[in-house]
Amino acid sequence: MKPAILVARAIFPQTLARLAEHFELETNQDDLIFTPQELVAKLHGKQGLLCTGSARIDAQLLAQTPRLKMVANMAVGYDNIDLAACTQFQVMASNTPDVLNQTTADFAWALLMATARRITEAEHYLRAGKWDKWSYDAFLGADLHGATLGILGMGRIGQAIARRSMGFDMQVLYHNRSRLSPEQESYANNAQYVSKQELLSRADHLILILPYSAATHHAIGAAELAMLRPSATLVNVARGGIVDDAALIAALRQNKIAAAGLDVFEGEPNLNPDFLTLKNVVLTPHIASASAATRRAMANCAADNLIAGLTHQRPPHLLNP
Ligand code: DGY
Repeated sequence: MKPAILVARAIFPQTLARLAEHFELETNQDDLIFTPQELVAKLHGKQGLLCTGSARIDAQLLAQTPRLKMVANMAVGYDNIDLAACTQFQVMASNTPDVLNQTTADFAWALLMATARRITEAEHYLRAGKWDKWSYDAFLGADLHGATLGILGMGRIGQAIARRSMGFDMQVLYHNRSRLSPEQESYANNAQYVSKQELLSRADHLILILPYSAATHHAIGAAELAMLRPSATLVNVARGGIVDDAALIAALRQNKIAAAGLDVFEGEPNLNPDFLTLKNVVLTPHIASASAATRRAMANCAADNLIAGLTHQRPPHLLNP
């Protein structure tokens, strides 16, 4: 008999067809968001789970799902998974790294450009029928070319973001848990390793792309925002919890920084309604990895992990130590 798995969110039919060759599937093509209790009930008798960041996998859930052997997260970030608890309950966990690096880096640039050059604000103005003449000072933004790009978190996506700055003749500064190798720094447009304080005070544009954990919760709060230049642009394509939203809203409102581009929010899909009142923010609904090809690659990667893990092979992207 095939092992039973739960595919907790809607996914490409082709991925389901592939999984069905190996497993008995319970699916959720209506894409309901399960409460923790519903997830436990759905996992009854299941050996595998394919999920996204909307599923919280912690000791409480694992204690009630004794048959569960593997959780395959369809995301590179896995802050929704308590990895120590998974290991304690002998449950394998995996993520989908690498396949989304370039697409996420492309999007970080799209968001930076839209934010620094006020593209969505200008489009809203035009759509509202307010454009009646060309003006020398309408929607003045900040240049990207020749500017200093700061990157907080210099993993594979951060390096891909940095590499793209070559075309804009930018200087790249970064801060990371550890310094990159000389080869990696050279790939990343000769990125220069600096302290977090120096990064914040020198960046014209700052992109956040670091993993979220207890250690990085509100890594950008009031004190950090105060170190940024009043002309600075902040872009977050990592996780919402890295930024203290209340402090960011205050900084944007008081023009202590110029603008922010946000693809992620603490408590998403709910966001602080004050963001909606600000003109100097560009807001997108967690879509940095959302190209058609990359989302397919992520789904396939999650399926590969689950198939390997439940057929006595090592999942290619096993997270447990
Ligand atoms: C990821 O892969 O972590 C992206 O944020 C999509 O969830």
